Amino acid sequence: MNLYDRIPNNVNLSEDKKLQRALEKWLPNYLDWWREMGPEGFQEKDVWLRTAVDVGSEGWAHFDYVKMPDYRWGIFLEPPQPDAKVGFGDNYGRPAYQEVPGEFRNALRRIIVTQGDTEPASVEQQRQLGKTCPSLYDLRNLFQVNVEEGRHLWAMVYLLHGYFGRDGRDEADELLERRSGNPDKPRILEAFNQPCDDWLNFFAFTMFTDRDGKYQLSALAESGFEPLARTCQFMLTEEAHHMFVGDTGLGRVCRRTAQLMKEGDVRELGGIPLEIIQKYINFWFSYSLDLFGGEISSNSADFFAAGLKGRYKERDQYTDHSATNENFTMTIVEDGELKTREVPLRNALNEVLRGEYVKDCEKGLARWNKVLAEEGASERLYLPHPRFHRHVGEFAGHTFDLQGNLISREEFEQKKSEWLPTIEDREYVRSLMHPVFEIGKIANWIAPPAAGIKGKPFDYEYVRL
Ligand SMILES: [Fe+2]
Ligand SMILES: [Fe+2]
Repeated sequence: MNLYDRIPNNVNLSEDKKLQRALEKWLPNYLDWWREMGPEGFQEKDVWLRTAVDVGSEGWAHFDYVKMPDYRWGIFLEPPQPDAKVGFGDNYGRPAYQEVPGEFRNALRRIIVTQGDTEPASVEQQRQLGKTCPSLYDLRNLFQVNVEEGRHLWAMVYLLHGYFGRDGRDEADELLERRSGNPDKPRILEAFNQPCDDWLNFFAFTMFTDRDGKYQLSALAESGFEPLARTCQFMLTEEAHHMFVGDTGLGRVCRRTAQLMKEGDVRELGGIPLEIIQKYINFWFSYSLDLFGGEISSNSADFFAAGLKGRYKERDQYTDHSATNENFTMTIVEDGELKTREVPLRNALNEVLRGEYVKDCEKGLARWNKVLAEEGASERLYLPHPRFHRHVGEFAGHTFDLQGNLISREEFEQKKSEWLPTIEDREYVRSLMHPVFEIGKIANWIAPPAAGIKGKPFDYEYVRL
């Protein structure tokens, strides 16, 4: 088998023998990890998947039946821009970095490892879901997300191997050793250690947690470290499908629930009540907000100053790329009360990025509420306040209600079962999760999609079982 068949790439891998050797050594370990931790029970099945074979408009979305272990994981970067420049910060306008700037080597490696760790983690979280899929269409979408997260791991491992030498290779090995939810060797970020063992969790995860990925990748796609920028730009094209799966998945659950509400009691009819959907939203939205990091952050200021991590759409959305002369007004907790404080903008960039994310999530809520309205339901879903149920940053260690009011720990504990999924809620949702493997059939708790994938109908044999 030639190199391109083993590791498809557009980075001239055959001309870099050292990198090639490192990746060829990592490849069998990756495949071992995939077999051990990838989707359980479906590895030998033909799945109608999209594979990236190059980054052109045709090549990145090649559809065919593939067995997942034979998926062509590869390394694809957006083509380089001639004369690429650092787009923000203290080095604005200087030539983009083609190598890692020495003083930021550790910080940059940390950013890449943290991003890279999320990719296999989500595959691990989702590995049992195939067994309870609501339809073949959904099963195929799950596997599409899974193989692409595998490819995103490849993308980050390429950067580690290609630009960080020995410690990069060690980090790449560790990415295959940590395990989601394992107390001894957990994944780095908490949202990626939470169980994702039913499809309502899966849709909420791809809606809210993959969407965090979109914003992190967008900020890194602006990076003055060009290999990172080009890697993230290409990953974003795939990430869009993951959010589509979550957004439309939850929309379809809402539609079905609203339909059942017209017929009678949703529980008796085997649907998912809106209160439970709302609790899942509260849970995954709050955990995903934590992924943006502390509200006030010297790291965010340093990364921006260095030109490594920009703002969302830094080039298109802003005219002042220095961000030195502005302050950001922020609410914090001080002496047991909420107070406002002025923070230098560069120190508030995590919060700025989180704000963009929240706006994007609100659009999803509006779409689901439109579905509810279409089906004649008067109830509406909402996002909890960003201070609610936080474990990272200024609000960690304090307790808030859904509107963001500071409340006592006792009050929070009393209300918690109304706001977050209880064990009973989770058990109820799990009790509905029976697999539907027949072509064109769908589970009772979810509506079918408006259309199939890539022009195929819903009743297409998306997975050959
Ligand atoms: Fe990803
Ligand atoms: Fe994703």
